[in-house]
Amino acid sequence: MSKTVLMLPGDGIGPEIVAEAEKVLHKVNEKFNLGLTFEQALVGGAAIDATGIPLPDETLDKARQADAILLGAVGGPKWDQLEMARRPEKGLLGLRSNLQLFANLRPAILYPQLASASSLKPEVVSGLDIMIVRELTGGIYFGQPRGVRELEGGERQGYNTYVYSESEIRRIGRVAFEAARQRNKKLCSVDKANVLEVTVLWREVMTELAKEYPDVELSHMYVDNAAMQLVRAPKQFDVIVTGNMFGDILSDEAAMLTGSIGMLPSASLNAEKQGMYEPCHGSAPDIAGQGIANPLATILSAAMMLRYSLGEEKAAEAIEAAVSTVLDQGLRTADIMSEGARKVSTLEMGEAVLAAL
Ligand code: IPM
Ligand code: MG
Repeated sequence: MSKTVLMLPGDGIGPEIVAEAEKVLHKVNEKFNLGLTFEQALVGGAAIDATGIPLPDETLDKARQADAILLGAVGGPKWDQLEMARRPEKGLLGLRSNLQLFANLRPAILYPQLASASSLKPEVVSGLDIMIVRELTGGIYFGQPRGVRELEGGERQGYNTYVYSESEIRRIGRVAFEAARQRNKKLCSVDKANVLEVTVLWREVMTELAKEYPDVELSHMYVDNAAMQLVRAPKQFDVIVTGNMFGDILSDEAAMLTGSIGMLPSASLNAEKQGMYEPCHGSAPDIAGQGIANPLATILSAAMMLRYSLGEEKAAEAIEAAVSTVLDQGLRTADIMSEGARKVSTLEMGEAVLAAL
């Protein structure tokens, strides 16, 4: 049976990097006879410009039908003045919540070829391989009530609500324990249990769950300490599990350890393993349209898609090997450029991956 992949290029550098990933997907589709069909739809600012809203019904319908989704990025200064509910980011958040994509996997792996691109010393980061498991459909991103209200006397007050129910914590916990089981069997749960009740519960539920996974060593860390430990001694971590907002922040930090956020893919999965795949970086409006963005995070996201949602491990490995080959060849986009390497454009990087395949 043929499987459908929905492409959502989005905004900023999104269309440029998704174009390269799409070529790569077409290539493996042929080479491995995957029988994939491709669809496209609008999301974010591109959808606002065309329809007035960031997540049109047509896009959501196509997303529900698809076996997997590849998204570029959303947002940009053009839409920053819009009220919160109409902003491009709501398109992305709407997809995550409507499809119940609660499990966000963000691997931070240092390619040995890029050790010198990291801002940390090579000995601190060499061999780095961390998996951040971020809860994606709850926490302060979605908690109610939220808004800006007027207090007596006319002063405005902004407020958001940080909530997690036990079942939400347990289901992301299971994903993280399972991931740790497949790896080095170490799980660090990150919270702020010294201040926030919601994360006291988070810690309790993780501790309860640990009894079902005696082979995995569970530890707990406050988020401020975790942020520090990530730059001090990142290799102490194997799998990190945390809530939506802490995961957002720590995954950018972890990404940078690997040299460039332009290298990091991600997967957002629901209970049926349907998934949306996207680079961890954003729409980078400052470099959009210049043809210099790094397409590798998106290409690696396509590989994750083949692995987790489409069950095509061989094709996934082929893409990952091709990425490693182009790095060996010394090809670098501007973000990972180093002395002695050859600087290439988005297009040239995409073509090089195709050739390596
Ligand atoms: C991410 C992004 C998004 C988030 C934004 C664009 C809404 O930063 O995927 O990390 O905060 O989740
Ligand atoms: Mg982020």
